[in-house]
Amino acid sequence: MATVPVALAALLAAAGPAAAGTVGSSGAGDPYFPLAGNGGYDVRHYGLSLGYDPSTGHLDGKAVITARATQRLTRLDLDLSGLKVTGITVDHTKAAFRRDGQELVVTPRHALHRRQEFRVTVTYQGKPKPVTDPDGSLDGWIPTDDGAFVAGEPQGAMTWFPANNHPSDKASYDITITVPKGRTAVSNGVLLGQRTAHGRTTFRWRQSEPMAAYLATATVGTFKVERYTTPDGLKVYNAVDPREATAATPVLKKLPSVLAWESGVFGPYPYKAAGAVVDRAPNVGYALETQTRPVYDSAPDLSTLVHESAHQWFGDSVTLTRWRDIWLNEGFATYAEWLYAEQHGGRTAQQIFDALYASPAGDDLWAFPPADPGSGAHIFETPVYARGAMALQKLRTAVGDKTFFRVLRTWATDHRGGHGTTAEFTRLAERLSGKDLDQLFHTWIGTAGKPSSP
Ligand code: TRP
Ligand code: ZN
Repeated sequence: MATVPVALAALLAAAGPAAAGTVGSSGAGDPYFPLAGNGGYDVRHYGLSLGYDPSTGHLDGKAVITARATQRLTRLDLDLSGLKVTGITVDHTKAAFRRDGQELVVTPRHALHRRQEFRVTVTYQGKPKPVTDPDGSLDGWIPTDDGAFVAGEPQGAMTWFPANNHPSDKASYDITITVPKGRTAVSNGVLLGQRTAHGRTTFRWRQSEPMAAYLATATVGTFKVERYTTPDGLKVYNAVDPREATAATPVLKKLPSVLAWESGVFGPYPYKAAGAVVDRAPNVGYALETQTRPVYDSAPDLSTLVHESAHQWFGDSVTLTRWRDIWLNEGFATYAEWLYAEQHGGRTAQQIFDALYASPAGDDLWAFPPADPGSGAHIFETPVYARGAMALQKLRTAVGDKTFFRVLRTWATDHRGGHGTTAEFTRLAERLSGKDLDQLFHTWIGTAGKPSSP
């Protein structure tokens, strides 16, 4: 369901001689992660059936991927890191395949014609291992003492299912996970059903709105589960590691009011389901805004809850098309924390801005421009988060509150379920304000170093 076929086609055309023929390219054309994603097709739906045994760390998987060819294809790639592939069919006919690093190269018996809808079924198994990102962090299927913490940003989805592993291609998901009785497997969207037989429990999850692969989860553990429906019909499912419950409970109680407050500021919540997974995963060091149901490596504080919740609008519903635009996720989610503080008796966003602006010119905050981190090694650093949020505060003071909040809401509404780029955001801000904002954005998101005036 990529909504950027034109841009993508241009990138693919530039990707080399292979793309011009009938072979799908090995990457989506993102210079930060050149092998992430693939070319030549668009995934519509992932149907994943997984079995996980926490005591051995063994995963059994079957992925049924429904996709549409965007060019004639005699060959196509998926991304898969580690694990053993035991068989592949394309439209029910056995297909040849080989592994080449993270590329799973599939040769269907019959070439796929342009615009053909097709179905790839991959069976696989093994002991999933996380990937180490360029910044040194672990990402993907991360085993814990009672299961696994599963978070795929930016690359880790491919550690547990074969994917077109780039956010430019969103799809719907059905994720079914079987775990030993007593463990809980939590994924995205709504729980369709849960059944225990022969000492194992199967959880069936459905995410019907488009989702980027990095936002999928299948976190397993011994969890206390809480389920309820909010007055406005949101289905909430929270899973909490009992060791984190004392700290997590008072914060999770606020989830409905945080989502209601954010809906007031950003526009309607984009999904039917919500919740949280609070795990104990001491070697992770971050939370992730997994769609509808963020995963936390330990009990979050309120501003982390506000941050991951804001990502449901900015990042999950409106998704980047290249990792360089990560400030559209992190700057916005950070700004949501500032706004929340401002409207709940804390410091104003301007006070937070002023305190940050006081950082000396040599501070990490000014190390690079938010809209140009330079490589995948820097996408989760302070300039993206804090200076990205500072840019939004600059925009707010330049255009006034009324227009500023209209920009945020229009951005979330117009790109709901799809994608957005930095250029589209700055154009929207200019259109709604009627102001030339080139200088402002150039200074605050496009230039390294501390701006000479706040
Ligand atoms: N997107 C996450 C957040 O800000 C953070 C995150 C995801 C992260 N993956 C990471 C941070 C890897 C550091 C390293 O909520
Ligand atoms: Zn974030």
